[in-house]
Parts: sequence; structure tokens; C-alpha cells
Amino acid sequence: MQVDILLGLQWGDEGKGKIVDYLASNYDIVARFQGGPNAGHTLKINGKSFVLHTIPSGAFQKNVTNVIGNGVVIDPFTLKKEVDNLNSVGVDISKNLLVSQKAHLILPTHKVLDAASEHKKGQSKIGSTLRGIGPTYMDKTGRNGLRVGDLLSSNFDEKYQALKNKHLDLLGNYDFDFDLAQAEQEWETGIELLRKLQLINVEYYLNNALEKNKRILAEGAQGSMLDIDFGTYPFVTSSNTISASACKGLGIAPNKIGEIYGISKAYCTRVGSGPFPSELFDEDGEKLRKVGNEFGATTGRPRRCGWIDLPALKYCIMLNGLTQLILTKIDVLNSFKSIKAGTAYRYDGKETQELPFDLDNIDIEVVYQRFEGWDTEISGAQNFETLPQTLKQYILFLEKYLNVPITLISNGPEREALISKSSAIYA
Ligand code: GDP
Ligand code: IMO
Ligand code: MG
Repeated sequence: MQVDILLGLQWGDEGKGKIVDYLASNYDIVARFQGGPNAGHTLKINGKSFVLHTIPSGAFQKNVTNVIGNGVVIDPFTLKKEVDNLNSVGVDISKNLLVSQKAHLILPTHKVLDAASEHKKGQSKIGSTLRGIGPTYMDKTGRNGLRVGDLLSSNFDEKYQALKNKHLDLLGNYDFDFDLAQAEQEWETGIELLRKLQLINVEYYLNNALEKNKRILAEGAQGSMLDIDFGTYPFVTSSNTISASACKGLGIAPNKIGEIYGISKAYCTRVGSGPFPSELFDEDGEKLRKVGNEFGATTGRPRRCGWIDLPALKYCIMLNGLTQLILTKIDVLNSFKSIKAGTAYRYDGKETQELPFDLDNIDIEVVYQRFEGWDTEISGAQNFETLPQTLKQYILFLEKYLNVPITLISNGPEREALISKSSAIYA
């Protein structure tokens, strides 16, 4: 058996939670491989929305085991809140949740460092989620971090104090007020919960599961344009978000990878700072935000909105080795008389489909192609063939441009609001 991967192809919030929840019934195991509580993955089941930050989006499928991989950074208190929330709706996730001993822990002082660093940057801040992600990954690569497995050692408290003191030294360099009392109390309750969970060697678990022909889906967080290497640096997150990261975030070898599903909205959004060439500042942008309910699932911040950026999408399809594209939020475009897609960039006196080294400090113009809208309600549609002709033509155009089959189209937040299309229509 092989591991399939599902990830976001834009700047996050593409609808990964919904699609993983839907696909999870075909799998035995769903495993998160990177990121942490900066993620907010929304599932809408029987009219109720749930947001997961750390726990994989297979949580609501009874027969699925959910795994938090070594590549993830964990805030114990956020994890506790998620476990409690699931409990309150009758899901005892602790039975179906396995946590890598090699996953790194987010300390309360990591979050303070994140906030202090952003504060100091002022106008040029990243717009981080303030969940301590950057400082935690810095400690990981700096070889200072605390890992879940350390919780089992007798001198964990000493290790915690040593790292906390290091952080307090660093914080002395910032003009930033903070109070740790409440955060440390919460940390304690989170640690208590984490100690009771099943803490395992995920790499052995997953490779053994593969030998036993178990089906595994690796769930990404954020999106490829937020990748630390290939995203819009420095306005990115602190982990690799592309498919290659699933191998190192779970201990799976590259030759074990099967399908690579990528998700893109039918338009584009971004939350936080950084370049966004196809961003709209007009009423179309306002309409996308309103109809698409584009407000962050983690921070509640309004998301910046724009037309779909096909050169960026094509770049991410290349980086990920995508085998299937899933298009979400197509219903948000229902009432547009016409829509646009960015098909090329103009910069340095040339027109190209290639992204420049730096999207930020460059005079860049997006070349758009206009399409007739379908201007009709498609909620409830389940059959590709019955979709409006203009929408089918648009999908055909996207498949041809991107050279990848679009196999699933999402037309609403609910689990069932999906239209599958078995093969590419461009072939
Ligand atoms: P994720 O981080 O990729 O899991 O995405 P988020 O949950 O942060 O944001 C996606 C938002 O869009 C959530 O509020 C979902 O409920 C919603 N959503 C997902 N798919 C669709 C869709 O096809 N149509 C509409 N209208 N909403 C959707
Ligand atoms: P999901 O998994 C959207 C953005 C932040 C900020 C930048 C760095 O829900 O798609 P960080 O806290 O990671 O240091 O912030 O990355 N960001 C996200 N944007 N969706 C996410 O996750 C994000 N996770 C981080 O807004 O611009
Ligand atoms: Mg999200």
C-alpha cells in the first residue's frame, strides 16, 4: 500500500478540512505531517461547523486512526481544548489518536517570542497567527527544542525551565510586556492530557501499517505558497508545506507515496501580510469575502481576496507532483456575471508564466482572462454533466492550462456538497 497526500496549493484555507473529512472514509489512518495550531481546518457535518487545529480531519470518521506526526508542533493546551470540544459532541478522540514522540512542543514563551518579534517588526510584520510556530521551529532546527517524548523523562520539568529561561533571556532584548501566569497554568493542564494520550514512534507505526496494507492519507496544513523554501518568503510559515514534507514529517520514504491531491479555491485568498499579485481592492473582492465568508478559522481576521492566480497554481502543482486537483468554493462565484483568472505575469519588460525570485519587491502586473459567469445557483448539484455549460467550459480551461485532472469540485461547506468527475476532460 502507499500513502496518499492531501495539501493546499495557495496561501492556506483552501478547504483541506472539509475534503479530508470526506475522503477519510476511504482510509484507515489520517496523519498530519507539519504545521501546528496556526492551522484551522473546518468540517461542516449535519449543519454544525467544527474547527480542528492540531487533530487530523479524520476525527469524525469512526474507523479512522488519527496520527499527529513528528513534523507537527503541538501546543498542549490547544490540543486539550480540541479533545474536550470533540468530547462535548460525543467523539472520544483519545481512543483514535496517536501522537509522535518526536513532535516538538510549543511552550508559552514561544508564543510570547512570536508576539514580541511581530511587535518589533511593526509595519513589516509577517502577520503570523501568534501561535508560537516560528520560534518553536527555530528551536527545533537550533537543536534546543522540547519534544513530546521528553514528557516521559523524569527531568522534564528541568528541561522546561532551562528552555523557558533561555526564552526569557531572549525576551530581555525586546521592549514587550507579557504575563506568563495564566498561560503556564493552561500549559500544565495540556501537559497532563498529553501524557495520557498514546505517544508512539509514528515512523514505525506507519511503515508497519503499510506492510499490513492499511490505507493512509497524509494531511497538510497551510498551503504551498506559504512554504518556507518556495513560498513568498519571508511572508511564509516556518515549515515546508509541500508534498516532500509528508515524507520527513511522518517518516515515510518517497517511494511509498501514491496519489497527491492538491486543493485550490476557485479564487484566491490570503490572511496575514505579504505579496498577493491578483488581490482585489474593489467590490468584486468585497463580494468574494462576503459570499465566501472569508474570515480566518484560527484568528477570525478578514482574508484578503482576489482572482485565481494560475501561474502560481501551476508552480505549486509542479512542486508537489500533483496527480489530482480539487477545486473548492466554486459556489462562491455563482452570482458573478463574469469572472477572471490570472494567466500570466508581466515584469522586467516580459510576459511570463514563471514566478520571479521575489514577488514582493518587484513591479508585477497580472494578465487576466475573462470568462462568462454561470450566474446561477448550483448548490445541491451532484452530477458534473448537469452543471451549467459555462462552468464546465471554465473547468475544462483550468485542466488544460494546469495540465492536471480536476476530479472533485466542492460547491458548499457541508460534507456532502461535492461533485466528482472521474477523469480529466482535457485528455
Ligand atoms: P482549511 O484550512 O484548508 O481546512 O480551510 P478553512 O477551514 O480554514 O477555510 C475554508 C472555509 O470554507 C471553511 O469555512 C469551510 O467551511 C468553507 N468551505 C469549504 N469548502 C467550501 C465550498 O465548496 N463552498 C463554500 N461556500 N464554503 C466552503
Ligand atoms: P490552514 O492549515 C492561512 C499564515 C499566517 C501568516 C503566515 C505565518 O488553516 O490553511 P505562522 O503563524 O505560521 O507563523 O504565520 O502564515 N498562515 C496561514 N494562513 N491558513 C493557515 O493554515 C495558515 N497558517 C499560517 O496568516 O501570514
Ligand atoms: Mg484554515
